[in-house]
Amino acid sequence: MKIEEVFHMVRGDGDTSYANNSKIPEKAILETKSLMEKAIKEICNTLLPEKFVGVDLGCSSGPNALLVLSMLINSIDELYNPLNQRKPEIQFFFNDLPGNDFNNIFQLSKLYKEQVKQEKGNTFVSFYIAGLPGSFYGRLFPLKSVHFFHSSFSLMWLSQVPKGLLGDTCTELNKGNIYINDEGSPMVAHLYLEQFKRDFALFLKCRSIELIFEGRMILLILGRANTPFYTGGIMHLWGLLSEALNAMVSEGLVEEAELNCFNLPFYTPSMEEVKSIIEMEGSFHVIHAQTFECNWDPFDESIDDFTVDMDLSGENVAKYIRAVVEPLLASHFGSEIMKDLFSRFAKNIARHMSKGKPKHFVLIIILKLNEEVPKMESTMESIVVVA
Ligand SMILES: C[S@@+](CC[C@H](N)C(=O)[O-])C[C@H]1O[C@@H](n2cnc3c(N)ncnc32)[C@H](O)[C@@H]1O
Repeated sequence: MKIEEVFHMVRGDGDTSYANNSKIPEKAILETKSLMEKAIKEICNTLLPEKFVGVDLGCSSGPNALLVLSMLINSIDELYNPLNQRKPEIQFFFNDLPGNDFNNIFQLSKLYKEQVKQEKGNTFVSFYIAGLPGSFYGRLFPLKSVHFFHSSFSLMWLSQVPKGLLGDTCTELNKGNIYINDEGSPMVAHLYLEQFKRDFALFLKCRSIELIFEGRMILLILGRANTPFYTGGIMHLWGLLSEALNAMVSEGLVEEAELNCFNLPFYTPSMEEVKSIIEMEGSFHVIHAQTFECNWDPFDESIDDFTVDMDLSGENVAKYIRAVVEPLLASHFGSEIMKDLFSRFAKNIARHMSKGKPKHFVLIIILKLNEEVPKMESTMESIVVVA
């Protein structure tokens, strides 16, 4: 299965869409507001650009893509307002895989443009948007043409299921699981890490060619604390989904062989792993690194309130996970079982949450290029060799 061909979030703006179920990334993006303002200020002060090119890599659909765009535009507007200088014009690219609901973004962008015009008038920054379909595990832009890359909640999606978990080997190695499992083979965790290393290094190499020297890249990655593989929050979440699938296997609703050959193309790295790949790849250095945690339930802001309705929380969590993985699961298991699967999943989550308050762990990293001239030629062939 080619991930690029089947992978997308639930489209549209209905109740089950990604657009309506993306509050967790929104919280993390808002957390980076002042970091983004600082990064934009540094870029503008150093490069004095007449035009500013920004990109959201893995933008999906819905309000978060617009949030990134508006944060960038507001940063530039506020920076230039007191300076009495001409504001740079902005070209902003929304990037995602070809199956993404780009129309949703175009419609939201139109509304945003009208709203901005009404509220701020003609002195506001001019901006031009474009959709850019394609995988960020390959070249997307010409040499040194981008000032600012942003990517949130996208880089934990791998370019493919790790090779050793495809075909016949997957049946034995990761039987009954869809991701790394604490009781599973350590080889599975190793294969996932190796795939992440290859993918992330390729991502960095491509961006290093496209980014203008003194530009910035802000990455928000769903990760895990610096712990062994088997102690991460999201791993439990996928374990609870596996549990629901296994129950459906035992009731004859899902084929065992179907489950045994399904693995998620997903990996939550630790900050140590991410930093060591950045260092090993060599094009960038980290200028800022921090972590951010939030409850699994996007509507639960409490820290130690255990009186929240666990059943409702379970449903809230299952709903946003469904908005992310339903198309991928449906392409493998069939869409008929999705309602039943996610209702079982919600119950498993509620049971798990009654024991504690699980959290998502987000890595926030800002990167700068090490040197002006990319170390490799910009041809696709040379990149494929690195991969
Ligand atoms: C969970 S959504 C995050 C969307 C948005 N950035 C946010 O913060 O809400 C992950 C997005 O990454 C996209 N994605 C995954 N792999 C990708 C790749 N190789 N190239 C481009 N986009 C990718 C998916 O299609 C999906 O829309």
